[in-house]
Amino acid sequence: MKTTRRGFVKTVGLGTAAGLLTSNTFLGGAAQAQTRHAHKTGIYDGGVMQLNQNESARGPGPKTLEAVHAHVSKRMGRGYSPDHVNELQEGIAAYYNVDTANVQLATGSTPLLQGAVRAFCSTEKRFVTPMPTYSTSEATARQINAPITHLDLDSSMAIDLNTLAEAGRGAALIYFCNPNNPTGTVHGPEAVEQFVRRVMRESPQTRIHIDEAYINYARPGAMKTALPLALEFENVFITRSFSKAHGLAGMRIGYALGQESTLRDIRSAWGMGDVNMLGAIAALTALEDHEHIEWEAQENARVRDFTIAAFRDMGFQVPDSNTNHIFVNLGRPAREFREACLQEKILVGRDFPPLQNSHCRISLGSMEEMQQAVEVFRKVLA
Ligand SMILES: Cc1ncc(COP(=O)(O)O)c(C=O)c1O
Repeated sequence: MKTTRRGFVKTVGLGTAAGLLTSNTFLGGAAQAQTRHAHKTGIYDGGVMQLNQNESARGPGPKTLEAVHAHVSKRMGRGYSPDHVNELQEGIAAYYNVDTANVQLATGSTPLLQGAVRAFCSTEKRFVTPMPTYSTSEATARQINAPITHLDLDSSMAIDLNTLAEAGRGAALIYFCNPNNPTGTVHGPEAVEQFVRRVMRESPQTRIHIDEAYINYARPGAMKTALPLALEFENVFITRSFSKAHGLAGMRIGYALGQESTLRDIRSAWGMGDVNMLGAIAALTALEDHEHIEWEAQENARVRDFTIAAFRDMGFQVPDSNTNHIFVNLGRPAREFREACLQEKILVGRDFPPLQNSHCRISLGSMEEMQQAVEVFRKVLA
């Protein structure tokens, strides 16, 4: 399937990123000054450093910004059949060499996580999740009063795939976040394949959701996508997000890959939202900008190595991370650390039960932010 580039040539460009940021039509004087300050220091929102949500500290790459700016036009007045959304679906399908029917777009991957639980679980149909992991699916299972099995991590802070397969027997849906949020741990392709084949053999009715939101941040060779398994088994599907390494959290775009009937079940159960034309053009450009994603992964790894080394140097245990966040064993409640950091105008992660009394998740900012933050961490943990 071919991706077309009609939209790129027919829309009138309005200027470069820098031009737009300094244009009076877009921002008033005070806002301009704040934006310039924020761009320089990386510090937004009234001087509070945001290390509490796993977004991208660096935002989208220059090609993506340019593509968005080039599409800011009067055409934005049209959008009930928005331009570029079909192109995005076709572009994703072409990128993975699958059919468009194997791709489900959504406004961020969140509606897909919610839709999957609503499609496959119920008061009689059980949901299985490791703890701690990303909690949207579990929260949805709670909302619909589905029975939930919670599983502890293994001693290395990784998801225990044997326990997960055992607990998954007879369950309706297993949520498996790889790499895992908040721990940053990852499972390699052989382990994932063994796990999926075991569940499909022992419990063929069970669905497996593999959430690969952080795949672009995984250490080289640490993992592979489970897409081939999702194409082989109707009951396996994966989700991806443009909110992480692609730097587009504010554009709200995610997608699922899997068999057509599975994706139909998910979108029938819950609204997937409407992807907008600027988001679509941004995502399409970001998807294909391999150079930028590679740079982003390397920069994140540099910041991650620096931050992990600082905590280990202070004597704290941190598992190797394959994401843009780290999970530190501080040996004290996350709340205490959070409150002390907030006094210093740094936000760090929320509680992650059952480890809220020992561990805290810290999202990685830019190198400049982390250099400042580490000084604060040394002070509050002294
Ligand atoms: C593992 C994981 N999956 C999904 C999401 C949802 O992200 P979004 O809706 O922005 O795609 C997040 C957000 O932090 C996440 O950590």
